[in-house]
Amino acid sequence: MNSFKTVIYEKKDNIAYVTLNRPQVLNVYNLQMRDELYQILGAIKDDSEIAVAIFKGAGEKAFCAGADLKDFLRAPSPTVARTIRWQRDVWGEFLSISQPLIAALHGYVLGLGVEIALLCDLRIAAEDAQFGLPEVGLGIIPSGGATQTLPRTVGRGKALEMLLTGHRISAREALDVGLVNQVVAKDELQLTAEKMARIIASFSPAVTRTAKQAVVQGLNLSLSDGLELEKRLASSLLLRKEK
Ligand code: COA
Repeated sequence: MNSFKTVIYEKKDNIAYVTLNRPQVLNVYNLQMRDELYQILGAIKDDSEIAVAIFKGAGEKAFCAGADLKDFLRAPSPTVARTIRWQRDVWGEFLSISQPLIAALHGYVLGLGVEIALLCDLRIAAEDAQFGLPEVGLGIIPSGGATQTLPRTVGRGKALEMLLTGHRISAREALDVGLVNQVVAKDELQLTAEKMARIIASFSPAVTRTAKQAVVQGLNLSLSDGLELEKRLASSLLLRKEK
């Protein structure tokens, strides 16, 4: 099942596990990881057996410390490197997945690490997690969605504070500002994520996917259009049941 070099992909009991797997360099995101994640996200999207997916990082020190600076910022030039980064729409692929996605976060969660976490639906942090967006100090702005996803999650003020100062925040502060749903002891992280995944997987996949769709699509609509969307989705579920 797993022929990838930078990511481990596993599937057990309707749950997909995606492990960023470059622990020697804090699971930083390089071109190969980009390509492998792109394939894996496509596989999750097309696999009707998968009810929910968990994203995590290998090793003790990090979920993901951001982009691999060797691949993305140095050679051949920052402009070319950034174009390379956009050649595969990994972020669009994340957003097109109908199954709920859980991020299990520990250690350094920086730059693209925060952005991947924000593209998941639920975030669980270990007590040692640290969140930060160092891009400004590198002379760039994030391009994995954080300028859009972060303010939608933590509000404009906190998002701008993180984006403009590059300061890291602790797991507790991330909980206080709504960046994560829960903080747990480090040795309980995987178990907590799995428990949550199992609860979600115990329900009808059509129902959990529709609930996600209603929330995610609704956030981009006015309240009245969102209520229309909810009505439509609720009816379509009822019709499915009657068939
Ligand atoms: N790109 C490439 N390699 C990276 C990296 C990155 N973004 N971040 C860390 N690494 C590598 C280090 O070079 C080191 O490799 P080495 O052992 O071959 O020298 C290894 O990962 C461990 O990192 P190290 O710096 O020794 O760990 P630390 O615990 O002292 O510090 C950080 C951890 C995260 C504070 C520090 O590595 C850091 O600031 N990294 C850059 C984060 C960043 O700017 N990300 C890009 C966002 S766009």
